[in-house]
Amino acid sequence: MIPPDTVQKIIAAARIEEVIGDFVDLRKRGSNRIGLCPFHNEKTPSFVVSPAKNIYKCFGCGKAGDPVKFLMEHEHFSYPEALRNLAARYNIHVEERKLTAEEVEARHFEDSLFLVNETASQFFQDQLFNTDIGKSAGLSYFKGRGYSEEIIKKFNLGFVPDIQDKFTSFALSKGYKLDLLQKLGLTNKYKKDFFKDKVMFTIHNLSGKPIAFAGRKLNEQKSGPKYVNSPENPVYFKSKTLYGLNFARKDISKKDVCYLVEGYTDVISLHQAGIENVVASSGTSLTVEQIGLVKRYSPNLTLLFDGDNAGVKAALRGIDLVLEQDMNVKLVMLPENEDPDSFVKKVGGDAFEDYLQTNAQDFIYFKTKLLKEEAKQDPIKKVELIKDIVRSISKIPDPLKRSVYIKEVSAVMSMEEELLLDQMNSFIKSDISNLRKRKQREESRRPGPVKDDIVGPSSEGQGLQKPSVNTNLKTSGHKGAYQERDIIRILILAGDFIFDEDEQVKVSEFILSNIEDVINDFDDPLYSKVAKLCYNKFINGEDFDTSFFVNNEDESVSKLAFDLVQSPFEYSEGWADRWQIYLQTQKMPDENFQPDSLQALLRFKLHKVSQMCEKNQSRIEQLTSAEDELDILIKLLKVQSKLNQMKKELAEQLGTVIL
Ligand code: CTP
Ligand code: MN
Repeated sequence: MIPPDTVQKIIAAARIEEVIGDFVDLRKRGSNRIGLCPFHNEKTPSFVVSPAKNIYKCFGCGKAGDPVKFLMEHEHFSYPEALRNLAARYNIHVEERKLTAEEVEARHFEDSLFLVNETASQFFQDQLFNTDIGKSAGLSYFKGRGYSEEIIKKFNLGFVPDIQDKFTSFALSKGYKLDLLQKLGLTNKYKKDFFKDKVMFTIHNLSGKPIAFAGRKLNEQKSGPKYVNSPENPVYFKSKTLYGLNFARKDISKKDVCYLVEGYTDVISLHQAGIENVVASSGTSLTVEQIGLVKRYSPNLTLLFDGDNAGVKAALRGIDLVLEQDMNVKLVMLPENEDPDSFVKKVGGDAFEDYLQTNAQDFIYFKTKLLKEEAKQDPIKKVELIKDIVRSISKIPDPLKRSVYIKEVSAVMSMEEELLLDQMNSFIKSDISNLRKRKQREESRRPGPVKDDIVGPSSEGQGLQKPSVNTNLKTSGHKGAYQERDIIRILILAGDFIFDEDEQVKVSEFILSNIEDVINDFDDPLYSKVAKLCYNKFINGEDFDTSFFVNNEDESVSKLAFDLVQSPFEYSEGWADRWQIYLQTQKMPDENFQPDSLQALLRFKLHKVSQMCEKNQSRIEQLTSAEDELDILIKLLKVQSKLNQMKKELAEQLGTVIL
């Protein structure tokens, strides 16, 4: 972790025009600089950089921020990564934890694995371009498939001849250790080459380092499988790798959608045709880690299936995993007997994209139609299939999306919506309870942290077990700490976002004007301090954003802001359990701040009203039945009934927002 004072030093040193100047051609315009926005396609510049304010803003797409934000957006750095990058650039020393001897050794080991792979990749490329057999067998193979030399070089394609130990003996002669060659699967236990007589595909990690290889046989007549792949090794985990992502990530971000295809050659052909937002899962079914990789760049995933239809049904099941990550999934079937590689070669890049546009179907609708066809008149089967679809829907974290889908399925399948909803809720409940059991098991294995207390709207008399809460971020242990924290979290992370486009109301304005009357009633001293800080700015009409808090002179405030920025994914299982806010706050605040703010506000108010109820109640109880106190009693009872009414209304509102 970078100490807060170093963070401030870094932020103070970073010059926006220099940082952006690395990526964008900037021209002077008055006291500002202007250029083509790197975040969206444009022909006339609307991207303005203000050296005086040390910020950028695009008047086309609205992206804006400071140097740190720019690196996070443009380079997809995490917050600490962006800070480290700037620190290096401006020669600011960041006190890092010293690596242990084992860590140093592990790092050396990893470096040497990359080095060996790099050598192998170079060797295969050299064989392809600079040997007779390579040219006649390998290069002609790739050219026969329509690949340009440029694309062959870009993807580090190569060749290896049919000689037992061509590569191994080369590598050994260069001084590489046999042990490493074997660890990477390049050499087998008989000290012979693993890849022989193949065209070679280099598999890269996200930063473009070679981590593995795939070899394809040169024609279908040859015996053996079509592809052989490197075994997993310390730098290559199949389930965490997507072929082509290193080349695709920029375009995925820019186009805000990722195409997923099945094969290496599909990725390469699409790139050659100018479609670069494409990756392959390389013949395995999609994993959570792979989805996570895509999600860093876009929440939209379109799956491209070969026209032969095989594999679609099997793939359908895997897709629940994608839905669970709150990705928007679409699906395209290519024309019969075509895969993306053959189809794009036939019609060209533009027509290919047009085809995707016209034929992309929403995953749930696709599944519904497919299964409906399958069920036909068999009622038992129909029930099973409907359950299957509803289970898919239950995986979608966004409650609004869920309800839209349920409506649709109810119409298509002629099934009562209520029934489907019940079914879906029971899936959600059992998922949540499984999750909880798993967490409890995990927690019982290690010494558990003290559990915080949560007070919620329906906390009275429900006999629910106290939920455990996210413990990365400590709150003081009192009741309501979470509701207060939630409000503060949103003020800090999303306060300067626009809450209401039409009215141009900021999130902070929306929240602060709603809690004005209780602004002095925060129980937690730190949250109280931040709330008052915000409120003072608000009434003076001053703007503030995250960096105001991160850079705050009050160290406790900057520390809190820093913690929040570092781990914005707060999610306490207790909320989900009780109100089915299913992973609601899992998203980054800038995607989710609207429902998030509204809910946080309602929860906070509800908590405050509940507190007032309790106080009022205890005053009622303290009254003796003396005659002269009757007036007071009546007043207090009226207040109590008013408070109860408010509580009920808030709980209802919260209910409507949540469900
Ligand atoms: N695959 C594999 N091992 C095999 C066959 C396939 O690992 N024996 C993986 C490869 O990643 C391959 C993908 O599954 O790219 C899809 O297989 P397939 O459609 O058969 O191959 P294509 O990618 O279409 O390859 P080509 O166009 O060269 O036939
Ligand atoms: Mn193919």
